[in-house]
Parts: sequence; structure tokens; C-alpha cells
Amino acid sequence: MPTTLAPAIRVQGVTKAFKDLQVLRGVDFDVERGSIFALLGSNGAGKTTLVRILSTLLKADGGSATIQGFDVATAPNDVREAISLTGQFAAVDEVLTGRENLVLVAKLRHLKDPGAVADDLLARFSLTDAGGRRAGTYSGGMRRRLDIAMSLIGDPPVIFLDEPTTGLDPQARIEVWDTVKELANSGTTVLLTTQYLDEAEQLADRIAILHQGTIIQNGTLAELKKLLPQTTVEYVEKQPTLEEVFLALVGPSAASVPGPVDRPEAKEA
Ligand SMILES: Nc1ncnc2c1ncn2[C@@H]1O[C@H](COP(=O)(O)OP(=O)(O)OP(=O)(O)O)[C@@H](O)[C@H]1O
Ligand SMILES: [Mg+2]
Repeated sequence: MPTTLAPAIRVQGVTKAFKDLQVLRGVDFDVERGSIFALLGSNGAGKTTLVRILSTLLKADGGSATIQGFDVATAPNDVREAISLTGQFAAVDEVLTGRENLVLVAKLRHLKDPGAVADDLLARFSLTDAGGRRAGTYSGGMRRRLDIAMSLIGDPPVIFLDEPTTGLDPQARIEVWDTVKELANSGTTVLLTTQYLDEAEQLADRIAILHQGTIIQNGTLAELKKLLPQTTVEYVEKQPTLEEVFLALVGPSAASVPGPVDRPEAKEA
């Protein structure tokens, strides 16, 4: 029975095997409503498998999972109404303009004023100027933003982003990060998967590490950092990261680039 107290996402003892390959061996975690949760894991760890289970595309072998209190196995329709999923392969139609893509989805979802919905999302995702151009002409970052915008039509409370910035250049990644932060600020719960540690550091309220089929750590960035013993203080010359140099050279948005993350345990060579 869904209650207002239920977390946005609750995963309990979820297992999944493909033939002999046991991918998930009992995964547990909760995601608080309105927070950003990063699921970190290397290639093949099972991140996409878990996202597919949570979005009702795949059945778990064991355990249970709920979204906004709805069980993915017994109330899949309620779950589908509560979520959106943006996968690695964008749902964007390249022949249509950005605006036409949005209008199409709004019509499919039977919304009252598809044009207004589209214009609102174009504005929110800084795509107003590009809205009249064919999506096939968009850069990777613009396309990813349009894809996320499309997945938000109908205001789902929970959104899954499977590797939202893989393959994007540093500037486009920051654009997508800003979009995700804005989503969470407006109350949407975001579960994202990533292989990038910096992405999790930048975005997530909580970070869980999926390794060999289970969550081996789950905490805030500060909590995870405390797992390593305090290192002795060393005085090193702080060099800019390559990302900072790149953005300073090419990016108009360079001014908004966050400074180097303060990581006392990371030694500069
Ligand atoms: N439908 C399937 N049939 C058989 N094996 C599968 C299937 N889907 C996934 N697997 C296997 O399960 C394991 C986990 O895959 P999954 O795609 O969930 O990993 P991932 O963490 O998302 O990896 P990546 O970072 O590369 O996206 C991999 O070994 C993969 O080959
Ligand atoms: Mg994957």
C-alpha cells in the first residue's frame, strides 16, 4: 500500500541472473524523495540491469522494489506512471525539430496544450533558440538535454538517467549536470548511473557503489571520504586540472566551472 512516507525508491534484496551469470546478488538501498542518488559501478556491474528492473522493463529473480510506494512486480502500471527513463540511446527523432519532438511526446501523453508544454521545456533546458531546428543538427549535449526534457513531460516524480553524460564533452557534461541539479531542486527524485567519480561527486546527495552484485558502500560524499584514513598534510603546488584548462580555453561557461574538488587524500604527482 503506497504511503506518503514511502521513500521514492526502495530496493530490498533484489537478485538477478542471466543463465549462469549472477549479476545482482541481493541489492538493498533507499532513495529519499527529491534527492539525487548516484549508482556507481564499473562496466558490467549491473547498473543498467537494476535500472531496467526498477523501470519494470525486466523482472527480478528475487527481492522486491517499490517506486513511490508502488511495487514494480505487482503494480507496474502505477510505477510506469511515476517514472521516466532516459537511456544511453536517445529517443530523439532526428528528422523532427526539437519543439516537434516535445509536442509529439506531449500529444502521446494526452496533455492539454502540447505547444505550451513544449515551449516551457525548451525554455527550461535553454533550447528555445534551437527549438525550430531539426534535432539531427544538435550537438551531443543539446540532444541529451532534449532527451531529458522529453522524458520529463507529464512531470514524473522519479527519473532514471542511465549514464547521462557518457560520450559528452566537458562543456556538455556541465550543461547536463546543471539540468539534473535543477530537476532535483524542483523536487524530482533522480537516480543516475555513472562510471564517472567526478559526476557522482558533483551531483549526488548519496552515492552507492555496486560491486560484484551488491552495494558495498552507500553514503554521502563526506561519509565515503571518511572511509579512508586521514592522510598527513602535504603542501603541494595546486595545478589546474586538464578539464579546467580545457574549459578556460574553449568555454564561454568557463567562469561557472566549479573549482577543484578539495580532496586531501589525493596527492598530486
Ligand atoms: N539480457 C541479457 N542477457 C544476458 N546477459 C546480460 C543481459 N543484460 C545484461 N547482461 C550481462 O549482465 C552484466 C551486467 O550488465 P549491465 O548492462 O547491467 O551492466 P552495467 O553496469 O550497466 O555496465 P555498463 O557500465 O557497461 O553500462 C553484464 O555482464 C552483461 O553482459
Ligand atoms: Mg549500463
